Amino acid sequence: MRRKRHLLIVDDEGNIRKILKAAFERSNYKVTAVESGDEALQAIASDPTIDLVLTDVLMPGITGVELLAHVRSRREDLPVLIMTAYGTIPQAVEAMRLGAVDYITKPFDLEVLKRTVAHFLPKSGSKATKKPAKKSDGSNLGLIAESEKMKEILALVKQVADSRATVLITGESGTGKEVIAKTIHRLSPRADAAFVAVSCAALPETLLESELFGYERGAFTGADSMRRGRFEVADGGTLFLDEIGEVPPAIQVKLLRVLQERQIERLGSSVPIDVDVRLIAATNRDLRKAVDEGQFREDLFYRLQVLHIELPPLRERKEDVIPLALHFIERYAAENGTQLSGLSKDAERLLLRYSWPGNVRELENAMERAVVLAPKDKTELTPDLLPPQLLSAA
Ligand SMILES: Nc1ncnc2c1ncn2[C@@H]1O[C@H](COP(=O)(O)OP(=O)(O)OP(=O)(O)O)[C@@H](O)[C@H]1O
Ligand SMILES: [Mg+2]
Repeated sequence: MRRKRHLLIVDDEGNIRKILKAAFERSNYKVTAVESGDEALQAIASDPTIDLVLTDVLMPGITGVELLAHVRSRREDLPVLIMTAYGTIPQAVEAMRLGAVDYITKPFDLEVLKRTVAHFLPKSGSKATKKPAKKSDGSNLGLIAESEKMKEILALVKQVADSRATVLITGESGTGKEVIAKTIHRLSPRADAAFVAVSCAALPETLLESELFGYERGAFTGADSMRRGRFEVADGGTLFLDEIGEVPPAIQVKLLRVLQERQIERLGSSVPIDVDVRLIAATNRDLRKAVDEGQFREDLFYRLQVLHIELPPLRERKEDVIPLALHFIERYAAENGTQLSGLSKDAERLLLRYSWPGNVRELENAMERAVVLAPKDKTELTPDLLPPQLLSAA
């Protein structure tokens, strides 16, 4: 018979320990409950059968975050799940950055907690079945990153790709938020599953809701057949929610629920469906400000920005301009069957002098335009092929 799964519960509050111990023992777990981080460390050191640690974040002595750091350095394979009160969510988020698998907010629903614990338990025989992430070394990503800032971002992208934690990508329009989201997906263990993108600003509230969660036949007038939502389509993969700042409050609540409970319900149904989705969100709005102004839920904001990537505008990374320009010229010249393959010195100077308010997208459009305008036998892009705003800025 398979041995019982062994849970280590760490909380300084006696009541919580009692409730959790009873609840998990009823579900056939072996439970060790301790009241401090120190005791937890001793338990972990002396008992290799512990399968998962469920710890409070704020305790006298060693905090949950410190406990996590110790566990990371000693037993890298041991999942740590954080319990937090609303006021200590930032610490829980910090713990996730350091490698906690997830956090759950008190007061919690025991069913949700049990499901979360079960989700992160190593599958039996996991050592053998754990499939190695198919790793690309980052070349052939079609991503230009010559500037120091972009090299740092690429390093961060590689680092966050493995985790399931939600990523928030911010940056001005056209800076490459979607490209970065796709890159994270392609470098992640989920690369073989779907990358699904939804633009939250493009759809009115009711459509966005049915797009995300799907619906049953008859859920509303016109729903003449069942439709799976984007969360279901992205199961096992990555869901990219673009312009997350535009999501209306009612859907914010639902998003928070999916992130915490890993389940969705189609509209017109109350049957929960398990979904395993990594969420990447993007916005060109200041979400913190939207939170302060009461337009965006703070709890959802915390969930979304566990990992944060901020893309600098193109004018702050000029070293990328020429490599990007050449990259786009090559691409569009191949598509259009023209000879264009380089830039004249004057053209380079103009590209570098311009401030690119529309960022990489504007540069891409300018290069496409130049390729289309260029005579078939021309090999070098000259200033006359550039859009007028570049010339007048000179
Ligand atoms: N570093 C890069 N290397 C190569 N191509 C890039 C890079 N950054 C952006 N691009 C290209 O620039 C265009 C704009 O990028 P993307 O759509 O990802 O920007 P965005 O930040 O999502 O823009 P928006 O805010 O308008 O949605 C895309 O065609 C993308 O392929
Ligand atoms: Mg975009």
